[in-house]
This record gives sequence, C-alpha cells and structure tokens, in this order.
Amino acid sequence: MTDEPLTAVQYGIGPIGSRIVQAANRTGVEFVGAVDVDPEKVGDDLGEVAGLGESLDVTVTDDAADALAADPDVVFHSTVSSVEAAAPQLTEALEAGANVVSTTEELSYPWWSNATVAEELDAVAREHAGTVLGTGINPGFVMDAMPAVLSTPMATVESVHVERVQNASERRRPLQEKVGAGVTEETFEAEIATEAGHVGSTESVAMLADALDFDLDEIEESIEPVVADDRVETEYVTAEAGDVAGIRQVAHGYVDDEAVVTLDLQMYVGAEDPHDRVEFEGEPDVAVAVEGGYHGDVSTSAVVANVAPTVVDADPGLATMTDVATSYSRHR
Ligand SMILES: NC(=O)c1ccc[n+]([C@@H]2O[C@H](COP(=O)([O-])OP(=O)(O)OC[C@H]3O[C@@H](n4cnc5c(N)ncnc54)[C@H](OP(=O)(O)O)[C@@H]3O)[C@@H](O)[C@H]2O)c1
Repeated sequence: MTDEPLTAVQYGIGPIGSRIVQAANRTGVEFVGAVDVDPEKVGDDLGEVAGLGESLDVTVTDDAADALAADPDVVFHSTVSSVEAAAPQLTEALEAGANVVSTTEELSYPWWSNATVAEELDAVAREHAGTVLGTGINPGFVMDAMPAVLSTPMATVESVHVERVQNASERRRPLQEKVGAGVTEETFEAEIATEAGHVGSTESVAMLADALDFDLDEIEESIEPVVADDRVETEYVTAEAGDVAGIRQVAHGYVDDEAVVTLDLQMYVGAEDPHDRVEFEGEPDVAVAVEGGYHGDVSTSAVVANVAPTVVDADPGLATMTDVATSYSRHR
C-alpha cells in the first residue's frame, strides 16, 4: 500500500455522498472532482455542498467525463440503489481507469439477482485493471460481512440468524418516509408495501451464504408494517398510535427447504432497543450483539472511506465485502 494520499472523485452528493466526503476527508483522501446532476449543486464547491465547512477547491460538475479526467485513484459513488441504473455510471468510472466504491445496494452482491450486469461490470473492471465494490452498512456490513467475519472461529455453521432493529427516528427524512412512518395501515398496503422495502436483503443473504459455502436453492423475502403502540413524533413525521411506524422485512435463504440464513430487519420510528444481533447454530452456538446498533448513515460513509485503500489494492474485478475482508467458517 502506498503512503501517498488517495485521490478521489465524489459521484452523487446527496446526504450519503456528503457524509462520504466528510469521512474520507478525515482519512486524508484528496478530492480531485465531483459529479452531481442536481442543478442546485452544479457549479458550487464540493466542500460547501457536502457541508464540510471549508472549500475543497473542487467544482461540482454534471459532466462525469470532466470530473473523471482528473484520473482519481477511486470514485466514491452514491447515486441510486438499482445496479442496472448505476451500471453506465460505474462503467464510465472504470473505463476512466478508476477503482469504484459504491453505495448502490444491488451492487453489493449482484451475482444472485442481476448476474448479467455483474458479469459485464466484472469484465469491464478486469479489462481496465480496476476494482468495483458495492458496500455500506447494510448491505455491506451488518447483515453480511460482519456475520461472515464472526463465523471465522466456528468449527461448523448450521444456520445463521441476523436481527437488525433501527430506530428510524434518528435517520434521514427519505428513510422515514420510505418505511411508511406516519401513514395508516391501509395506505401502507396500497402505496408503500411494494416500495417501502429496504433494498439489499436478497444481496446480503446471497453474499453471506456464499461466504459460508451454503449452496442456496431459493431466497424469499417478506415485508409487513410495524404499528405504533403510542404516538411517535420525529423531526419529520408523526405516527399516531395505530399508525404505521415502519417496516419489518425478513429474508430467508433456503437449502433443501431449510432456512440456513435468516435476516430480520426492523426499521421504525420510536424503536426503543435498537441493536444488531447475530446468532449462529453450529459448533459452538454463538450469539453476538451490538447494543444500539450501527447508525445507518454515519456507518455507511465510514465503511466506504475505510475500505477504499483495500479496494485500490485489491485484485481487479467486481468485488464483494466478503472478498475484501477476511476468512470465514466454511464447514457444516
Ligand atoms: N449500502 C448501504 O448501506 C446504504 C446506506 C445508505 C444509503 N445507500 C444508498 O446510497 C444511495 C445514495 O443515498 P442518498 O440518501 O444520498 O440518495 P439521494 O438523496 O437520492 O442523493 C443522490 C444524489 O445523487 C444525485 N444523482 C442521481 N443520479 C445521478 C447521476 N446519474 N449522476 C450524478 N448524480 C446523480 C442526486 O441528484 P438528484 O437529487 O437531482 O436526483 C442526488 O444529489 C442511495 O441509493 C441509497 O439507497 C446505501
């Protein structure tokens, strides 16, 4: 690994991109370009747009080619959740010779649901000797890479169950709205249920199963509303008692009709006991809890900034967090 500071382009400067700029700036990354399509941001200084409180001498452009001409070591990409929508942006960055760390949820493990796009991105990355990684806190760490790492000292793993409870009151407005906080159950069923879901559960199940060497037959997901017992008021929404407070989304990975991987994600306003908990059945049985749980927005940007040097040094191709981390239990 070189001692030179990494150079970076920030691609997408919403709430997450802004936090990535702040986190990466703290680790000594030097920003050399910035891209966003929002006319409110184009032409402004990246430091100002990202709320850094100081200028970075980098002007935001809506022309990616312009920013990529600065030849960055890495592109921090945080625009959209769909890997198909992100693919042209990622491809352009790879073709410019950069490595890419992206928060596009479906990029975290596209091999299960989006195999064609995964193959194409892998090929472009190899051709241009770059590495592309989708990551964040979830998907990217809490429900996939972290349990995979925790399995390393286990002799056998029969099944793994991960529960993440997030107090959505502490999250950004779009997330509170996305989980349906404050709407009635009828509105949830009619308008939210099909779209409220967290993107990335399938990818986390597939990534974790792959790391643990489970050959899954099927992945199934379900989503239901969590209803508020009492009135909850946040900075952005109010849920009366009986209204929807958020979601519970459960994803199972099956081998021979048995759920070997279960991910239970609950995100709702007013959650009193937020935590991340991993339970293994195996030798030995293990349970690990992160009291309070990792904060979605703070930790996503931290993961992106912290993994960047590893990605820059990684083998070319489409990587996953379980490739760039360590070793895991692979025995039953
Ligand atoms: N893996 C994880 O753990 C994790 C955690 C948090 C968030 N995420 C994901 O990370 C992404 C970013 O989050 P966010 O909250 O910052 O999203 P956001 O509020 O939608 O911000 C995205 C920014 O990128 C801009 N943009 C969209 N398409 C673009 C394009 N083609 N070229 C350049 N700029 C473009 C947007 O401009 P406009 O507003 O004008 O469209 C906006 O400024 C989302 O997909 C989110 O779901 C992942």
